Parts: sequence; C-alpha cells; structure tokens
Amino acid sequence: MNMNKSNISKNLNKPLTVLGMHKDPWHNTGACVIKDDGEKTKIAFLSEERLDRVKDSRNFPDLSIRACMEQVGVKNYDEIDFVILDYIENENWRLDQFKRKCRHDVFLKNIKKEKIFTVNHHLLHACAVYFSSGFDSAAILIVDGRGSLKETQSLYEAKGNEIKLLEKTDKIGIGLLYAAVTHDIGWTILQEGKTMGLAPYGEKINQKLYNFPEKYNGITTDYSDFCEEGSYNIIQNHKKPETFEEKARAAFEVQEECEKALLHLAKYAKKTGKNKLCISGGVGLNSVSNNKIRIHQPKLYDEIFINPAASDTGIPFGAALYGFHILGNKPINPNPLSPFLGPSYSEIDIENAITSNLNQYNSFNCIKENSFEIASKLLRENFIVANFQGRSEMGPRALGNRSILMSPMGEENKDRLNLRVKHRESFRPFAPAVLEEKADEFFEIDVESPYMLFICNVRKEKRSLLPAITHIDGSARLQTLTKERNGRFYDLVKQFGKDTGVPVLLNTSFNVNGEPIVETPDNAIKCFSNTDIDALLIENFILIKSNIDQKIFSS
Ligand SMILES: [Fe+2]
Repeated sequence: MNMNKSNISKNLNKPLTVLGMHKDPWHNTGACVIKDDGEKTKIAFLSEERLDRVKDSRNFPDLSIRACMEQVGVKNYDEIDFVILDYIENENWRLDQFKRKCRHDVFLKNIKKEKIFTVNHHLLHACAVYFSSGFDSAAILIVDGRGSLKETQSLYEAKGNEIKLLEKTDKIGIGLLYAAVTHDIGWTILQEGKTMGLAPYGEKINQKLYNFPEKYNGITTDYSDFCEEGSYNIIQNHKKPETFEEKARAAFEVQEECEKALLHLAKYAKKTGKNKLCISGGVGLNSVSNNKIRIHQPKLYDEIFINPAASDTGIPFGAALYGFHILGNKPINPNPLSPFLGPSYSEIDIENAITSNLNQYNSFNCIKENSFEIASKLLRENFIVANFQGRSEMGPRALGNRSILMSPMGEENKDRLNLRVKHRESFRPFAPAVLEEKADEFFEIDVESPYMLFICNVRKEKRSLLPAITHIDGSARLQTLTKERNGRFYDLVKQFGKDTGVPVLLNTSFNVNGEPIVETPDNAIKCFSNTDIDALLIENFILIKSNIDQKIFSS
C-alpha cells in the first residue's frame, strides 16, 4: 500500500472521487464517498450498522460503500481516485474479546494498489473533526481508546490543509480508564454513555472507591498503575461496586477524573498558540467534560468544535476528508459540514414502504393532510411521536432526522417512554431540543449546541416545567435548532412552542434498546409498527396507530 503522495496532482479544478472506509477488526465500520466533478461536491457517509442492523457493527462495510457510491453517483470502483483506510500495526495487540484477523475483502483486491492509502487512526479522527469544523487553523486533541500504534492520546496542530502531529502517548489514558470503570460497574465497552448518565447520582455518596493516580505529563494522563494492559480490568485493590449507590459512586469518580484530565489536556493543547480547539476520539462524546472546558477556560479558546461522529463511527468520514483535502489538496470548507450525510430516499421509496407495511401490519392509519399540525397536537397530548426526515445524521446520537419525540413537560413522560419503547435504565436522562433563539430562556447556555455535545443547566425556574429532560443534577444534554440546519424538525418544535408556550421537545434516538438507529423508511415503519410508538411523522405523511382515538387529531 502506498504512503507516497509525491505523484498526486495539485490541480484544484480537477474532478476527484475518494472513498474513506473503516473496516474490521475495528468496531463501528462504515464508508464515506466524496465526489467533486469540478463544479459541485457531493458527499455521503454512513455507518455499516445502519444497513446491516448490527449495533456497533464490525462487518466489512460493503453495504455502506455501495449506498454512499450510489448517493453521490459513482457507478463503479474505477471512478474512485483514492481509497483511504486506517490500520492496526500489529493485529495481535488486541487481547480482548474483539481480537480477530482483518478480512482481506474481494473489494480491496479489485482496487489498484497505488490508489490505496493506509493512514493512522488518530490522524483520521483529526481529519474528521478539523475538516468538518469550518476552522482554517486549530489545535486538535484526540482522546481515544487506542489507535493504529496503540496510542491513546494525540495532539495535532492544523493550518489550512496541513495537519501535523506534535505529540502522542501510548500510556493508558482517560478513554481506557473510563472503559475500565464502566466494565467494573458491570457494563461492556461502548456503554460509557450509561456511566456518564449515572455519575450525578454518586455525587452525594460519601464512600470513595478508587484512588486514581494523578500522573499528568503533557499529552499523557497515565493510568497504567490502575488498569491492566490489554483488558478492561482494574488492578488496584478496591471494593467492586455492587449496589446502585456503589455503582453511582464509581461513575461519579471516573466522570470527575475525566473532567480533570480533559481540562488538563485542553490547557496543554494551548501550547500550539491556537485560539480554536477541535476534540475527537470516543472521549469527545463526553458532553459533561466538554462543557467543563467551555465553562472553566473561556479565555483559552475562542471556539471549541467537536464533531458528532467523534467516536470511531467518524473514521470513514475522516478518511474521505483526508483523501479530499490532504491527498487531493482541495480547499477547506469555511463553514461546518452538515451532519446529515446519509442516503436520501424519494417520495416513491416512502410511499412504497408505507403501502407494503400497511398491508403487512394493518395496525395504523396513514394521513397526508395537516400531518405537521397533527404531530404537534399529538405531542401536546403526551403521545410518543417518531420523526423521519431527510438524510440520516452521522454519529451515535439522533439529531432530529431519525428521532423519537415527546413533550418535555409531562412528569411521567420519561418513564412512559422507557416503559413503552426505549426500555433504558431509568437513571439515564433524555435530551431536549430547543429553538436556538429561545435556548437562553430555558437553559443556561450562551453558545450554540447543534450536536448535543455540551451539557448545560436547565434554568432553576424552568426545571419544574421540564421534568422529562432535566437530569437529577439540573443539567440537560441540549441540542439547539436553527431553520437552516434542522429544517422541518425546527418547524415542528416551533409549532409545539406556539401551541404550548414551550419551544422544547424531548429528543431521543429512533431505535429500541440494543438496535442501531433506523435508516430506511422501511426500518422506520417497522420500528414504529413493532413498538408502542403512537405516531410516525415520515416526510409529508403521518402514520397513527389505529387504537388512538381519532377525535384527538381530527378536531
Ligand atoms: Fe478511535
């Protein structure tokens, strides 16, 4: 495989097509294709799990490659100029349950060797966040599990199309510590979000469980005296958390340590002299820690950007952006890239999916007129309404295009949603989506939060009004909406605000526990049909379960 880019054309107007991919033995495989025909640039990005329906899929991204190629109009592999993927230097370093050989797929054998570029995993995280940020200069922190060379934390600096590695460490970092404590609590890796949700319940429990070694040194936060190398086991003597209180205390302690470590790293990254900071790697999804950086160090950075695909779901995106901007030397984008880059579906696709499922399930009615007003009215009446619109969002969190919505005002709505559809642990909070221009009325926030990657406090006087989205510590993982970015979802929240005086909706991912977020219209209608979701707003249609009293929406 070729790492030499000396023969690459610097002609900016030259058409260019690149394919980025993330394949086994990593988790969260997927594909991204960017096609620039010399006039217009099209981009499609999709995680394999959305199509193969295996949560955090490790399958070769065959389905997502085909879907992305089709979306941007690439008919065959010969049209692709560069294929970029990450690598593991030594496949044997993984000692955990996910160890297995890379599959050398037929697809890669059909690509000319000189077109294939293997690139460091952390560099691809850096490309994903920086080239989608709209910045033209930034410090980039990658805080991750492990990368291609077993590195855990890396610092890059970027200017224009250049991204330069300044420092990296392979000492056990905060990402692996967080995974180890999550494992100690009784969950598996990739369930760190549960630990973050549980943490506030441990704040007032006066029973210290762990003594984390505070060995911060530059880019290194070294927990190798605490965690076993190559596993998610804790080697320090401690009482294993068993009761809810002990588990909550464990979650609180690791969350507090994560906040300290990230703040240290953000301060350290200032040595670059940059006034903008990008954060990526799985720890970038820790919205509580991200917010600590924002609150405590406003003078450090003018802006902080975290991409919604900060975890390994973003590697194909970073790989394609590496091909486009670094290999292809295409100019960087002055604005953040849209997170809605999944395949699009035509009205005919949607009508066909409705018709076939209507025949199969015969359990819902389909209405085309006033679908929008009906959805708002059902939400006001505390029904559960799913929303499907446009192209799917990247990353693990629903940003409105594949979401389940509910009124944030009903005291019992959180439990009702958990009991009837989501079946999540009751301590996990649901997130609010608010009109950006109204955010300040309800939440203590003075910046936009389009990707739910910063938490903030619900204003004290509004907490009793918004019980379904206010976490036990008064916080909320907020998403702010604009018409330009969120289209019809913005309109729906606005309509709900007109009807109720509260332009806020509870927004959770459109899936059931253990399944990936729905992707296609057929996935969405099947999920709606097989669960206790009351209605599905799908583009211009609204599907409503037959058992709902029609008087509610026909008046
Ligand atoms: Fe990673």
